[in-house]
Amino acid sequence: MGKRIHNFNAGPAALPLPVLEEIKEEFLDYKGSGMSITELSHRSRWFDDIIDEAVGRTKRLLNLGDNFQVLFIQGGASLQFCMIPMNLASQGRPVDYINTGSWSTKAIKEAEIQGKDVRVIASSEDKNFSCIPENFHVDAAAAYLHFTSNNTIKGTQWVRFPEAGDVPMICDMSSDIMSRPFDVNPFGLIYAGVQKNLAPSGTAMVIIRQDMLERVPDDLPTMLKYTTFSAKNSMFNTPSCFVIYALNLVLKWLEDTVGGLEEMGRVNKAKAYLLYDFIDQSDFFKGTAAKNSRSLMNVTFRLPSEELEGRFLAGAQKEGFGGLKGHRSVGGCRASIYNATGIQSVKALVEFMSEFEKREG
Ligand SMILES: Cc1ncc(COP(=O)(O)O)c(C=O)c1O
Repeated sequence: MGKRIHNFNAGPAALPLPVLEEIKEEFLDYKGSGMSITELSHRSRWFDDIIDEAVGRTKRLLNLGDNFQVLFIQGGASLQFCMIPMNLASQGRPVDYINTGSWSTKAIKEAEIQGKDVRVIASSEDKNFSCIPENFHVDAAAAYLHFTSNNTIKGTQWVRFPEAGDVPMICDMSSDIMSRPFDVNPFGLIYAGVQKNLAPSGTAMVIIRQDMLERVPDDLPTMLKYTTFSAKNSMFNTPSCFVIYALNLVLKWLEDTVGGLEEMGRVNKAKAYLLYDFIDQSDFFKGTAAKNSRSLMNVTFRLPSEELEGRFLAGAQKEGFGGLKGHRSVGGCRASIYNATGIQSVKALVEFMSEFEKREG
């Protein structure tokens, strides 16, 4: 095996090594089938077992009641920006959004394109999206409240979710799903592109509450209706078989090796604070997110000049640290430390940063 790097990619991102090894081990002959997972039918008992296990594990990890269904829908999180207003904006009622960055902005745009009565009830745009908004009011008339739990680009995250009363919350959890425990019950729908914390790219996980399914209008195109996916266990058409297979193995790792979301949350906090504590004592590296809104998943920071940032990124790459360049829309640096990025990689990065500062600071 070639040398594996310390992987800080934002998505697709690091997967747990034991999962990759298991995939490799059974890649040519999946459980005595004589076929690779990439070759067998989604209508086979092998794949039925995989998708049922993946759903079962999701339900156990998130403590989902029988009133929630777990769906896999291709088109990534971006298709969900469009399906949500299409399916869940009940006739004539406004839909409320909180804008915390470019992913929320894209979700808002898709609802506006459809002519929905979109209200942006809170936004941190005037603060360059460096924080999570506070002091807003959720109107009981809204069909739903949409927000993004973790802002992958700006490195901010909701520490406590908003209070929406009886208004169902809808959340884009693409970059922090399964990173910590939370109460699912106020959510009408949770969605996530799986390519950060759960699997390779190729599908979105959608967790939907029964009362949301009852809102779906009859006259939508078949493939854009949540009810199509819920009626057929996400197999109305051919699903992303390999992705769901890998996702099931990642969830097994989360349950059996990590020990569940409480423990994952503890590890993720420890990882993030190794970096934040180092950044806070440094005069050279500067965090870009407001302290009370810092993400435990994407740690964004700057150096004193773009020239130093270039040297830092090139040096890091040479030493085996990948994916540290900030999103092209904001520049700077970003360490994405999803579930599968081990604490030893974070420790190695802090050491590298400290040495770089001594040399160049
Ligand atoms: C928070 C968030 N939402 C949505 C997306 C878009 O996901 P996809 O590429 O699966 O459409 C991303 C991708 O990085 C993201 O970070």
